[in-house]
Amino acid sequence: MTCEAMAKENPTSVQSSESSDSRPLDGAPQGDDSRYDRALRPKTFDDYVGQEKHKDNLRVFVEAAKRRGEPLDHLLLCGPPGLGKTTLAQILAHEMGVQLHMTNGPVVEHKGALAGLLTKLEERDILFVDEIHRLNPVVEESLYPAMEDFRIDIMTGEGAFASAIQIDLKPFTLVGATTRTGLLTAPLFSRFGHVVRLDFYPVHELARIVERSASLLGVECDQPACEEIAKRSRGTPRIANRLLRRVRDFAEVLGSGKIDFAAVKLAAERLEIDDVGFDDMDRRLLKVIIDDYDGGPVGVETLAAAIGEPRDTIEDVYEPYLLQQGFIGRTPRGRVATKKAYLHLGKKPPSRMPEPLQALLPLEDPSDDE
Ligand SMILES: Nc1ncnc2c1ncn2[C@@H]1O[C@H](COP(=O)(O)OP(=O)(O)OP(=O)(O)O)[C@@H](O)[C@H]1O
Ligand SMILES: [Mg+2]
Repeated sequence: MTCEAMAKENPTSVQSSESSDSRPLDGAPQGDDSRYDRALRPKTFDDYVGQEKHKDNLRVFVEAAKRRGEPLDHLLLCGPPGLGKTTLAQILAHEMGVQLHMTNGPVVEHKGALAGLLTKLEERDILFVDEIHRLNPVVEESLYPAMEDFRIDIMTGEGAFASAIQIDLKPFTLVGATTRTGLLTAPLFSRFGHVVRLDFYPVHELARIVERSASLLGVECDQPACEEIAKRSRGTPRIANRLLRRVRDFAEVLGSGKIDFAAVKLAAERLEIDDVGFDDMDRRLLKVIIDDYDGGPVGVETLAAAIGEPRDTIEDVYEPYLLQQGFIGRTPRGRVATKKAYLHLGKKPPSRMPEPLQALLPLEDPSDDE
């Protein structure tokens, strides 16, 4: 299905994942995040914590491209918000010693805008297109020859005087980022030479990120505190950094300024974040499945209406982590709560649980709804 068709079927899917409320556990940027994102963002592979498998491969690709004097192959970065896609794109440009030109899918409104971006690129530069699944289909199509043959066809003049001209481009690398791989069209997807699927970070890696950020912010944060912040950060560096800043606020105003285990506990209690990193919204979502729909299956549209959030937010923000941690499962007829979810909410699981099939289904398959 094309983006356009998908957008028609599911209008909320083309909304930005940037959230407007101030939920501390949202992976999407909010409030003062962008300022801190810039300050805390790793600049080299060595600073980029975790994702070792991907980093090792990317290091090889960078080295090989540099030795041959060629651009990197086009690369697609996928994963939920806040896992480090933009950061990786910046590191790649830095390690290649080239310029990074950043844009966003919906911002490139027409072919002319794309041509403007592409003709500005110097040899081996990187064009980073965030939210690439939201590119206008016409713009996307003109990206194909640019990616394959480094040329772009544009029309000049109007009516009887219209003619197509071909512009040769300098060899460049397209780095696309998406939170929704399933919304990418097959022709675009197939033109990327390599796909990096970023995973949620394990606690020990997030703890290292918290430690690094604390030292950059000049705040004292001991090891148990780093780990406790990491445990509550939903596997997401952006959330870990945000939580660290909120804990710092509590520690500075209500404590000694130093961040220790007690300061994290206090901040988490005040922000109503439990010890697995769920806030009120996650618990509400689990409660709706368990109490109102007998544990499921329940379709995502129904869930969205029940908790009063757009379907998009459920699929991009809440669900990936709940699925990854095994609190909910996907079946062909909708979402189900797992035994772990019942136990987490202090409820008795039923003797017969529905079988989750999430391992067999692509995450963004829209056909599993009502
Ligand atoms: N591997 C990492 N090591 C250290 N810090 C990281 C890492 N990944 C991400 N971060 C931190 O998390 C912040 C958010 O990362 P980034 O902006 O790259 O996420 P993103 O995947 O592009 O998110 P979005 O989908 O919202 O655009 C960065 O500013 C950086 O400080
Ligand atoms: Mg980004």
